[in-house]
Amino acid sequence: MAKSTKNNTLKLKFDTLKYAPAPESKSSAKINAQYDLFINGKFEKPLSKKYFDTINPATEEKLSSVAEANTADVDKAVKAARNAYNNVWSKMPAKERGKYIFRIARMIQERAREFSVIETLDGGKPIRESRDIDIPLAANHFFYYAGWADKLAYAFPNRQPKSLGVAGQIIPWNFPLLMAAWKIAPALATGNTVVLKPAETTPLTALKLAEIIQESDLPPGVVNIITGAGATGAAIVNHSDINKIAFTGSTEVGKIIQRAVAGTNKKITLELGGKAANIIFEDAAIDAAVEGIINGIYFNQGHVCCAGSRLFVQESVYKIVMQKLKDRIATLIVGDPMDKNTDVGAINSKQQLETIHKYINIGKKEGLDIFESSCVLPEKGFFCKPTLFTNVAQSSRIAQEEIFGPVLAIQTFRTDDEVIEKANNTAYGLSAGVWTDKGSKVFNLTSKLRAGVIWANTYNKFDPTSPFGGYKESGFGREGGLHGLSAYLNVQ
Ligand code: NAI
Ligand code: MG
Repeated sequence: MAKSTKNNTLKLKFDTLKYAPAPESKSSAKINAQYDLFINGKFEKPLSKKYFDTINPATEEKLSSVAEANTADVDKAVKAARNAYNNVWSKMPAKERGKYIFRIARMIQERAREFSVIETLDGGKPIRESRDIDIPLAANHFFYYAGWADKLAYAFPNRQPKSLGVAGQIIPWNFPLLMAAWKIAPALATGNTVVLKPAETTPLTALKLAEIIQESDLPPGVVNIITGAGATGAAIVNHSDINKIAFTGSTEVGKIIQRAVAGTNKKITLELGGKAANIIFEDAAIDAAVEGIINGIYFNQGHVCCAGSRLFVQESVYKIVMQKLKDRIATLIVGDPMDKNTDVGAINSKQQLETIHKYINIGKKEGLDIFESSCVLPEKGFFCKPTLFTNVAQSSRIAQEEIFGPVLAIQTFRTDDEVIEKANNTAYGLSAGVWTDKGSKVFNLTSKLRAGVIWANTYNKFDPTSPFGGYKESGFGREGGLHGLSAYLNVQ
C-alpha cells in the first residue's frame, strides 16, 4: 500500500471511531454564589468590600464571585496567623498537630469527587486529570506530611529544628488544590501557621479546602485562605510580620518577590517557570516515548511548569518518531473538560490563550514548520489545538521562552554531548526527560543535565516523598519529601 493511502486509511479509521459523550455529573459539586475570606476560622466579608468573578474557561460562564482582599484584609489574616502561632500551634505537641493534618487528608479523600468536579469547572483541566492526579496527590501530600509532624527530630538529627512562624504562600492556577497542599501540608507539619492566596482564576478548590479546614476543627487562624489577584499577593509579600514566603508562578513575578524580600529576614522559596527537554535516543522504546511526549506537553494543555515543551530526537529515529507523534496527535480528544474521554481541556483563561497564540505567531514569523491537530474546537470557551513546530533553531523564541500551552518545539541531535549542550542552553532548569534502553546513558545524562527533576523512560510522575524544584531561573528551594520540610524550619 502506498504510504499516503496508508495514512488516509488511518485517518478514516479514526474519523469513524467517535466515542459517545461521557460527561461527569456536576451534582456532587456545591459552589456558593459568593465566597468571603477565610480568616481566623471564619468566612469574613472583605474590608475592601470588593468581589471579583471566577468563570468556567470551557464555557465562559460565571461560577461564583469571590472576595478581593486588600492590604487591611491581608493584615487581618496575618494577625490571625500570628496569634494562632504564638498561642496555640507552636505550643501544641507535634503528635496532636499531626492528627489534624491526617484529618484534613482523610476529608479531602472523602470529598474527592466534589473537589475534582470543582477543579475542572473552575480551571478547565480534563476531569480525568483532576480525578486521577490532582486530588489524590493533594490528599497524599497531607498524609505524607502528617506522618512527619512528630518525627522532625529524626529528619534532622541533632539539629534542633524550629518552626519559622507565619508563612505567606502564593500559588498559581495550573494545579490549584495540589499547589495548596504542597504549601500548607509541610508548613503545618513543621509547626508554622499560614496565609495562603490561590490564583484569581482558580480560587474555588482552595475555598472548599477552607470549608474542610473549618469542619476539621483546626484551631482558628492556623490556616487563613484569602483571595485576590497580584496586588493581594504583593501585600502578603510585603507584610512585615511574615517569616516565610513560598511562591509558585511566573519567573517575572518571582523576581519581583525576590527583590521585595531582599534585606528582610523572610525566608523564601520560589518555584518558577521551565522549558524542559524531553530527549529521545534511537535505542528508546519509541511507542512508550511518544506517549511520554504527549503526556509531557499536551495533557493539562501544557499548563505544567515541568512540561516537556522542547523535544530532542536523535536523527536516526526522527522520521518514525514524527510519524507516530502526528498519528497520536490525530487521536487526541480536545474539548469539554467534564467529559471523561477528553484528553486536552480548556486553556485556563483568555489571557493565557492570547499568550499561547502570540507564541504560535512568533513561531510562524520565524519561519518554523508548524503542524497542528485537525480537531474542531468548541465554539465557546478558551481552547487551543495541540501544536508542534519543527525545524526549530536554538535561538528561536519558541525554544527559549515558556509558553505554558500545548505547543511543542522539536529539534534533532546526533551525539550525547550535543544534546546535553542543547538541552542546557536555556535560562530555566526545572525538569527533563530521557528515553533510552541504556542505564549508563541515563546516568550520564542525569548527571550533566542542569535540571532539578529528571525522569527516565517516563514523564510527569509525582510523589509526595520526592523533592521537586529547579535550577537557574526556575527558582530555588525544594518542595516535597524530607527536603520540603527544611524550607519551613530553622535548623542548627
Ligand atoms: P503569575 O506569576 O502572575 O501568577 C501566579 C500567582 O502570583 C497568582 O496567585 C497571582 O495572583 C500572584 N501574583 C501576581 N503578581 C504578583 C505580585 N506582584 N506579587 C505577589 N503575587 C503576585 O502568573 P500568570 O500571570 O498567571 O501567568 C503568566 C505566566 O507565568 C504563564 O504564561 C506561565 O508561563 C507562567 N506560570 C508558571 C507557573 C508555574 O507553575 N511555574 C504557574 C503559572 C504561570
Ligand atoms: Mg475560574
